[in-house]
Amino acid sequence: FHVEWDLVQAEKGGYDSFMLKEIYEQPQAVRDTMGARIDQEKKRIVLPELKMSDTELAAYDRIYIVACGTSMHAGLVGKDVIEKWTRVPVEVAVASEFRYRDPIYTDNTLMIVISQSGETADTLAALREAKKSNVKVLAITNVVGSSVAREADEVLFTWAGPEVAVASTKAYTSQVVTLYLFALYLAEVKGTLPADEIANVVEHLQAIPGKIASMLEESEASRMRDFAASIKEVGSVFFIGRSLDYAVSLEGSLKLKEISYIHSEAYPAGELKHGTLALIEDNVPVIALATQPDIFEKMVSNIVEVKARGGRILGFATEGDTELAKAVDEVIYMPSTLPMLTPILTVIPLQLLAYYASVARGLDVDKPRNLAKSVTVE
Ligand code: G6P
Repeated sequence: FHVEWDLVQAEKGGYDSFMLKEIYEQPQAVRDTMGARIDQEKKRIVLPELKMSDTELAAYDRIYIVACGTSMHAGLVGKDVIEKWTRVPVEVAVASEFRYRDPIYTDNTLMIVISQSGETADTLAALREAKKSNVKVLAITNVVGSSVAREADEVLFTWAGPEVAVASTKAYTSQVVTLYLFALYLAEVKGTLPADEIANVVEHLQAIPGKIASMLEESEASRMRDFAASIKEVGSVFFIGRSLDYAVSLEGSLKLKEISYIHSEAYPAGELKHGTLALIEDNVPVIALATQPDIFEKMVSNIVEVKARGGRILGFATEGDTELAKAVDEVIYMPSTLPMLTPILTVIPLQLLAYYASVARGLDVDKPRNLAKSVTVE
């Protein structure tokens, strides 16, 4: 009797790929990242790891968020929440562009770099450029002891645990959560959100891991598996959304193209008519995210325009919404939460879609062609 002991298989913990395992680890990753940073009694955020004083933090009136790939997409969500809750203008830039720019720094500029690995060459170079100009750099990274963690002035770790699959999943949701925590903390020190509003967001944040878990249940996952099977031969998939839904669309589209090699594009829905609408014809799959109440009606009109050209639309709506179903072919419902927090839920089925599309096409989910987990050369 002979037992084959395959170490890699064992590390996958019963899942057929690291990506699937990491997708399912998200409730835990997000919970661990919030961990001790929530004051349970007062329902406020505490960030004891920050070395700078609250007075120093409160003085920042301009923020750059610099990162690559999925980490940059987390930054786009961060921009919206920081601006909304603190009224500090935030610019998000891809590191390979930013490092060769001549950015406008003021004495009160903070730079946030986001990097799962903490070793991405362009992100590290942007960090070094900023430090040369005496700009304070706060890093959000998943790897203790990484170059980014060592060189930044301040570090907030994501506690997602090791991420092996090239396509980032649990690192993204943990980065987004860290940005929520930071934005709430900044709002408190700046006095831009009253304590009861902060407490309300904190309570909703605490419910997020459970809601992610519900999005991962077989009944939900099987719907994405079916949709993935239906698009496995198509030439292109489009993702549309507005505001935070657009930020998540970019991530959904990146995930899909990275591991399924299906061409996909994310578009701000209101911009479609300026070009991309020309590509919509019968049965072109369009994934339309419509979770943001303040622009919901506008989003529905954009969807109607796509439908009129024959697009086959999978819509994402919030639980309780009955409108979207009338305009699209199929709807996926997100558990209800605050509109600002939906990105962390909406991204889950999009990750599953990319995963199942890759599997349906018989590809190597964890190691897509031409891509690396960590890009340590320029
Ligand atoms: C590579 C990976 C992506 C990742 C990006 C940035 O492209 O394949 O998954 O988002 O690098 O990596 P970082 O480690 O800096 O977050």
